[in-house]
Amino acid sequence: MINAPAEWDPSLNLGHDLTDKQHRALFDMILELDRRVSKGEFGQGVLDALQGMKIYAASHFAAEESFMARAGWPKLAQHQGLHGEFLQKTSMFGGEALIDSEWTSLDLLRFLLIWLVKHVKVQDREFFDWIAANRPSA
Ligand SMILES: [Fe+2]
Ligand SMILES: [Fe+2]
Repeated sequence: MINAPAEWDPSLNLGHDLTDKQHRALFDMILELDRRVSKGEFGQGVLDALQGMKIYAASHFAAEESFMARAGWPKLAQHQGLHGEFLQKTSMFGGEALIDSEWTSLDLLRFLLIWLVKHVKVQDREFFDWIAANRPSA
């Protein structure tokens, strides 16, 4: 079983309110899915919640990428590839369809949670640190 963080860690805040709010909402959505699947819920409600999380993730990624594009972030293409990887993995979640595959739904959710934490701590933080260092002084 993959160990994943059980709660939001303030060290994940990047100092950009909208982004921090979106990261936390995404984290909470995945954690809630993990709780429900851990209890054995695999019904339509869980699949709908998963779909909601995926839509939310896609809209957060689009907002972040557009911010990066406007700022001229040199690693934008690489970053877009990472976001794509998350969405692709999310699409693998198929409830009972996954039971016979090498991924269980819980492993997949924990993978997504760990991915998010690492992504925010490393790749997103790198961008926001770069923005802060390059911000023209007023
Ligand atoms: Fe990102
Ligand atoms: Fe992000």
